[in-house]
Amino acid sequence: MTPASPSLGSEQSPSSPRTEVPVSSNPLAPAWLRVPVEPNALDASVWSRTAGRDDSGEIVIGGVSARDLASRHGTPLYVVDEADARGRAAEAVESFRREFGRIGTTVSVYYAAKAFLSVEVARWVSAAGMRIDICTGGEFAVARAAGVEAARMGFHGNNKSLGEIDRTVGEGIGVIVLDNADEVARVADAADRHGVVQAVRLRVNSGVHASTHEYLATAREDQKFGVPLADAAGVVAAVRDRSSLRFLGLHSHIGSQIFGSDGFAEAASRLLAVHADLLRDGDVPELNLGGGFGIAYTSADDSRPIAELAAALADIVDEECRRLGIPVPVMAVEPGRSIIGPSGTTLYEVGTIKDVLVTSDDGASQAVRRYVSVDGGMSDNARTALYGADYSVSIANRASSADPVLVRVAGKHCESGDLVVLADYLPGDVAPGDLVGVPATGAYCWSLASNYNHVGRPPVVAVVDGQSRVIVRGETEADLLARDAGLS
Ligand SMILES: Cc1ncc(COP(=O)(O)O)c(C=O)c1O
Repeated sequence: MTPASPSLGSEQSPSSPRTEVPVSSNPLAPAWLRVPVEPNALDASVWSRTAGRDDSGEIVIGGVSARDLASRHGTPLYVVDEADARGRAAEAVESFRREFGRIGTTVSVYYAAKAFLSVEVARWVSAAGMRIDICTGGEFAVARAAGVEAARMGFHGNNKSLGEIDRTVGEGIGVIVLDNADEVARVADAADRHGVVQAVRLRVNSGVHASTHEYLATAREDQKFGVPLADAAGVVAAVRDRSSLRFLGLHSHIGSQIFGSDGFAEAASRLLAVHADLLRDGDVPELNLGGGFGIAYTSADDSRPIAELAAALADIVDEECRRLGIPVPVMAVEPGRSIIGPSGTTLYEVGTIKDVLVTSDDGASQAVRRYVSVDGGMSDNARTALYGADYSVSIANRASSADPVLVRVAGKHCESGDLVVLADYLPGDVAPGDLVGVPATGAYCWSLASNYNHVGRPPVVAVVDGQSRVIVRGETEADLLARDAGLS
């Protein structure tokens, strides 16, 4: 972490392995960051699949150049590589179906809408065969507007309102994931009112919490989501007592931006032990292992293809079920970030630039950090300020042969923690008016966007086959004023 980084939130940072040997010429650079050997190259593990540079050196995504995108739609701009997103959705469905098919079961692959949801994206993931995991009435409304049947959705959340429960049950939601004991009666009563039998899962808190490269396993985890594993049997008994509920099985989500399968293995093993106990008193046809599969935000991140993870999860479940002597349940998973995150790039225009001479903590050395300020910031990407998340940046409107310099990409908001990229190298001739692209911003950026300082949230454009089209309109000052009741 860089010295001035904001405090960490629930999503831990740094997101990158820190085992690399430092090859940095600037002592302010984090140990994992390498001076780029080929500064104009776009790392294929970080950038979306159709991103590249054209003959003039400009970045092109989906066949549309950065300058075309900026002149047509303005900056800041969220750009979604449609072919990339659709491809990842299809690969997730195929991989999980193939791998769980191999161990003799089936799987539902839900798209976690919280990562990013719009009508278009709901249609893309549905066309790829995904179901949709929603956690509010608003997400439900967007998915329904996209034509997704309620029966193909799952509903999460630790504090679903009575109105949300009633509406989703009434419209035939596929499954509700109960998060606590209070929700048993709330969902059962809604099902009674509507004269239906509602399928439910129970979110348990496995005590396994994974983030990035490590996982923690404790007896009980101190967090708001889910019922402690030790209490699961009592809650499931209450579910089984209500004839308007049908218990499908346990659910766990162990965290986000997870690399590797060790945390999932531990959680699956803990869940299946309870699952096996629950089988003594009734059906437990399914098991949901949640989402959280990590993506590369920087070249130091080692994200694995979803197919590898699917194979690992299938092996874990197969092995554990054999050991317990129980049938392999029908499975469910809920990836969000790994579907839409790598597809997104945010384009910004550079505004001001300043160099700061920074003295090391021991006073022994000094080095320059260059602040490159752009026309967006924490209002369009809160993850850096919230979690200390790492991102990468490249000059987008041209290539450059200038020597790379260490930069920090700052936003335009009234917070010193308003940073988009904590540390990366840009060509030393980066100048006001240049465009820069920050890759891997497809997930949890637009979803977490705000109107801080009365900026409008930027538009989202999909690019494919040389065309760009707005899939979410940007907000205007008129939009902001329209909600200000002082005017009426
Ligand atoms: C219950 C649940 N499922 C799935 C997800 C999606 O996680 P990710 O986007 O990291 O795959 C989340 C994210 O917070 C979640 O809380």
